[in-house]
Amino acid sequence: MTTTPPAFFVRDVPVYGDAILSPMAGYSDVPYRALCRAYGSAMQYTEFVPAESLLGRRGRNRFWMRLDKQPGEYPMVFQIFGNDAQKILRAAQNVLDLEPDIIDINMGCSTRQVSGRGAGVGMMPQPALVAETFRLLAHHLPIPITGKMRLGWDADQQNYLEIGRIMVENGAALIALHGRTKTQKYDGHANWDAIAALKRAVPIPVIGSGDVQTVADIARMKTYTGCDGVMIGRAAIGNPWIFARQEKASLPFGEIVAAIRLHLREMLAYYGDPHGLVLFRKHLKQYVDGRSLPQSLLDALLHTTDAAAFMQLLTE
Ligand SMILES: Cc1cc2nc3c(=O)[nH]c(=O)nc-3n(C[C@H](O)[C@H](O)[C@H](O)COP(=O)(O)O)c2cc1C
Repeated sequence: MTTTPPAFFVRDVPVYGDAILSPMAGYSDVPYRALCRAYGSAMQYTEFVPAESLLGRRGRNRFWMRLDKQPGEYPMVFQIFGNDAQKILRAAQNVLDLEPDIIDINMGCSTRQVSGRGAGVGMMPQPALVAETFRLLAHHLPIPITGKMRLGWDADQQNYLEIGRIMVENGAALIALHGRTKTQKYDGHANWDAIAALKRAVPIPVIGSGDVQTVADIARMKTYTGCDGVMIGRAAIGNPWIFARQEKASLPFGEIVAAIRLHLREMLAYYGDPHGLVLFRKHLKQYVDGRSLPQSLLDALLHTTDAAAFMQLLTE
């Protein structure tokens, strides 16, 4: 029997594979992680969660639900954001009994509501806050602490190498880098040269993020940058096959329909009926994007609130 060795380690946590579903608010939830994991996504990141929401009593609200995990999700990465190191520490301590394998600090979110108050990518212009956050968490938590960042605030303030160095000095175990600045949001091209430069500069694993769109891009980013793992975000929506290194365009349509059914069943089991179906609509548009599904049928699928009727329409 041969066992595949880990692709890399996050401190003492092995990662068996190098293609990873990006954390994506609104997408990388329990049901979609289950699908992507089945196809080979090697790490399981939650959607980002505000530290403040994790300080109080545990509830069944949307933020606590983001920390739900299924048996077998490994390594499970809880992603937290905030602008206060002590609060981030308390939030992380408060969720340890949910047994994450890794805590990740979001330093990449570019929305005004988050970055404008010094959280997400808003941490990057505050090196002292980054240092304090990683120092505190690495010192007080028994599990590895990682971070996901961008290049910096704007074209003139690309301080990812400085922030990377500070993270390493303060105990970070891995860095994921989305190769864009805050002001770029999702425009232009991700800078893979920067990912390569970070990989050369730090002694811990680096995950590259940005513009991996095809199966071939996974190997292309790894070769170009030397990074240890590759995150796939937008190109993985409606396309879990990318983790199995299968091009969606090469698949028979029946296989896509089978994945739609499976994903919807997971959504209904997790969110209930019909909420799961309503939330599934944004995924459906990505699954059948570019496929020759008659518009009238697609419209009917997108408008029904009845899961049984949806499945019936799909059969037809
Ligand atoms: C809808 C959406 C939600 C996202 N939410 C998060 C998030 O919660 N945490 C995070 O670190 N990055 C988040 N990102 C950024 C992605 O993880 C990724 O870095 C970025 O999309 C670039 O990769 P891509 O070109 O493969 O999409 C989000 C991106 C999108 C499109």
